[in-house]
Amino acid sequence: MKKILVIHGPNLDMLGQREPAVYGRTTLKQINDGLGKIAKKKKVALKIIQSNHEGKIVDLIGKAKNKFHGLLINPAAYTHTSVAIRDAIAASGIITIEVHLSNIYSREEFRHKSLISPVAKGTILGFGPKSYFLGLEALIDLI
Ligand code: DQA
Repeated sequence: MKKILVIHGPNLDMLGQREPAVYGRTTLKQINDGLGKIAKKKKVALKIIQSNHEGKIVDLIGKAKNKFHGLLINPAAYTHTSVAIRDAIAASGIITIEVHLSNIYSREEFRHKSLISPVAKGTILGFGPKSYFLGLEALIDLI
């Protein structure tokens, strides 16, 4: 069975209460349940992790190299700052799909740059929780 690592970056544990006008009312658990349903239907295994710590995310990606066939990641705020996460993805060679709930290009200027997009196979953004579901389906088709 193919294995996919799902990483949710900082502050995504607060989804549902966090800036609902931007991120909606869906909780992280509801997103994870939706991902689980797709995985079950498509017969892939998921490991889902949320972390607020850049180094932990770097460690997870480094260790994922020979264990997972694909990576679905919402790097959250680290999207715009983390050379370390970008380099970890490049070094791992894991097929990666980047997702965002919001359309980062229609928001503040500091969100317009993603350091992760150049090392991702593709990026899906702006569809709320559906960005994750579309991203997972695309990733399953690729691996
Ligand atoms: C986000 C967008 C980022 O700019 C922000 O820092 C987040 C969430 C999104 O999913 O829309 O935490 O990645």
